[in-house]
Amino acid sequence: MKIRTATLDDTSILTELSSVCFSPEETATKKEFEERLKIYPDHFWILEETGKLIGFINGMVTNESVIRDEMFKNPFLHEKDGAWQAIFGVNTAPEYRKHGYAAKLMRQVIEDAKKQGRRGCILTCKKELIHYYEKFGYKNEGVSKSSIADAVWYDMRLEF
Ligand SMILES: CC(C)(COP(=O)(O)OP(=O)(O)OC[C@H]1O[C@@H](n2cnc3c(N)ncnc32)[C@H](O)[C@@H]1OP(=O)(O)O)[C@@H](O)C(=O)NCCC(=O)NCCS
Repeated sequence: MKIRTATLDDTSILTELSSVCFSPEETATKKEFEERLKIYPDHFWILEETGKLIGFINGMVTNESVIRDEMFKNPFLHEKDGAWQAIFGVNTAPEYRKHGYAAKLMRQVIEDAKKQGRRGCILTCKKELIHYYEKFGYKNEGVSKSSIADAVWYDMRLEF
């Protein structure tokens, strides 16, 4: 089992897994993944075993202190020397859930973001996952301005 960054060749498998993990309003499209992969392939963390995709995390780097909905759609907002590693999606294939794989990925993202000299990691999540991210040290900063899928999202921040 290993964690690696992504290439454009991963576009289809990542799109497919994301569409299993998220609703049509929440998931990025194939075109959006392709654009992200052209601009920030090193900000994808893919967990796989003998070529089988188990899960992945991805997100741009930004100097903005919270995630805005436009960031999901516009990869050109990526600021490679930015302060915050944003996390746009945490995905584990259904058959591999509850074995700590998302946690393994999250720990790697945190370690890499520290090595890259970031101030920390930011993400938005629904209420039911707040406690999960708190386990990694994220703090809930309250309701986000996000209106994706008409849901209520919370801004979470892990400052190093
Ligand atoms: C949320 C999601 C990424 C979690 O992935 P996962 O690989 O199952 O995550 P983990 O195994 O690290 O932890 C999940 C839960 O299983 C528990 N768990 C971890 N290892 C376990 C094990 N060996 N046996 C039983 N449970 C375990 C964790 O404690 C956690 O429970 P908790 O939430 O009550 O604390 C996955 O369910 C998913 O892809 N969901 C759809 C997409 C989504 O909602 N993503 C998050 C929003 S960005």
